[in-house]
Amino acid sequence: MAQPIRVLLVGSGGREHALAWRLVQEDPTVEIIAAPGNPGISVLAECVPVPATDVDGLLTLARVRGVTWTLVGPEAPLAAGIVDTFTAAGMPVFGPTRAAAMLETSKEFSKTLMNEAGIPTAKAIVCRSPGDARRAIDALSVPVVVKTSGLAAGKGVIVCNTVDEANDAAASMLEGKAFGDAGTTILVEEFMTGEELSLFAITDGQHAVVLPPAQDHKRLLDGDKGPNTGGMGAYCPVSLVDRHAALVDDVLERIVHPTLSAMRVRGTPFKGLLYVGLMITTSGPKVVEFNCRFGDPETQAVLPALDPNARIGELMATVARGDALRGDGLLRTTCSAVTTVLAVPGYPDAPRSGAQITLPPATDDVLVFHAGTKRSADGSLVTAGGRVLAVTGVGNSPEAAQRASIAAAGAITFIGKQFRTDIGSRELARRAGTS
Ligand code: AMP
Ligand code: GLY
Repeated sequence: MAQPIRVLLVGSGGREHALAWRLVQEDPTVEIIAAPGNPGISVLAECVPVPATDVDGLLTLARVRGVTWTLVGPEAPLAAGIVDTFTAAGMPVFGPTRAAAMLETSKEFSKTLMNEAGIPTAKAIVCRSPGDARRAIDALSVPVVVKTSGLAAGKGVIVCNTVDEANDAAASMLEGKAFGDAGTTILVEEFMTGEELSLFAITDGQHAVVLPPAQDHKRLLDGDKGPNTGGMGAYCPVSLVDRHAALVDDVLERIVHPTLSAMRVRGTPFKGLLYVGLMITTSGPKVVEFNCRFGDPETQAVLPALDPNARIGELMATVARGDALRGDGLLRTTCSAVTTVLAVPGYPDAPRSGAQITLPPATDDVLVFHAGTKRSADGSLVTAGGRVLAVTGVGNSPEAAQRASIAAAGAITFIGKQFRTDIGSRELARRAGTS
């Protein structure tokens, strides 16, 4: 009898819970070991308390437990070189090497690559001093976007409407106050307008299989107000994609393939999950950013909406083994999904954890993915981090999915719960012809 496939899943967020859920849906015999996992993941997997950035500890775990392949969720272990270490040890792993992960870890690197390869993106000037920044802000004229080149947990981007605001943002990043080393190099970037779209491609470095694009909601409050966060919700599919019949083909041809080709030419092929953050502008799709891993919370919407016959586990295992994909592809949705994130009070600036969580009984049209939760000493479920749960409603229409998501988000209780009640509303407006 064939041995069951054993996957090591690295990470502990809502994205990793959704990945575990999907792997089990596609192959109920799969065995998952999650490191470190979370209380939600523990229902589907064995959770082992090895931190996601302890690369040596993870390698030991993978070897001792004889895992078939490893799926890396967050960017930190990729930036720490987990793929280089596992590959050198002959252990199949899905994700880019540390050098290829620079597409996300250095915005200076990705912007230079895009400019050299002629990939459509916002015009940007790399700055290393407040003087550089002043000249760049004058040259691009406000509004401008000031961003750290390095990783800043989704918070190193400030949209500035005045010259003073832009100079202040640049100075505080460059002085290392706000973001440490991540901000010693910054980009001053032209402000783009349009709809944002997150597109994920599973790639072997050459071919790309694209998952159905999703839209993320980064602001804390309804109506896209309040501060930027790691993401307060997402929905999938996005009918904007259907309206522009050639949109995905265009993104493949003008963005994904030139990027993969430029990475191969540099001797650092990108294998794993390429996340393309897009702005759909009046002059076509442009890159806002690349990430080197699945998006959170988009994954919690994309995977439940994805055609159940799509076998992304097999595609990722193929890439992890170092084998080639059969060609390009576009995977389809078979239903709608709307994901509402529940966050702790004070999130994003001063999150306060430790409140008891009450979950109502499960229903067929809702998936509750855990992110910042833990079991307290007495076994009860408590909040442990900014974003606590991602509540995905599924249905035959975005209306039904949104209704299910909002009702379930409202029924879960913990003190100070924050959530948006308008995730997916832009899609409803678009379908109603009012946007
Ligand atoms: P990033 O981390 O680069 O994706 O930026 C975070 C968010 O800031 C994006 O999702 C956009 O909402 C916004 N943003 C970043 N760059 C730009 C830009 N050049 N023009 C308009 N908005 C931007
Ligand atoms: N949702 C944005 C990200 O994963 O970076």
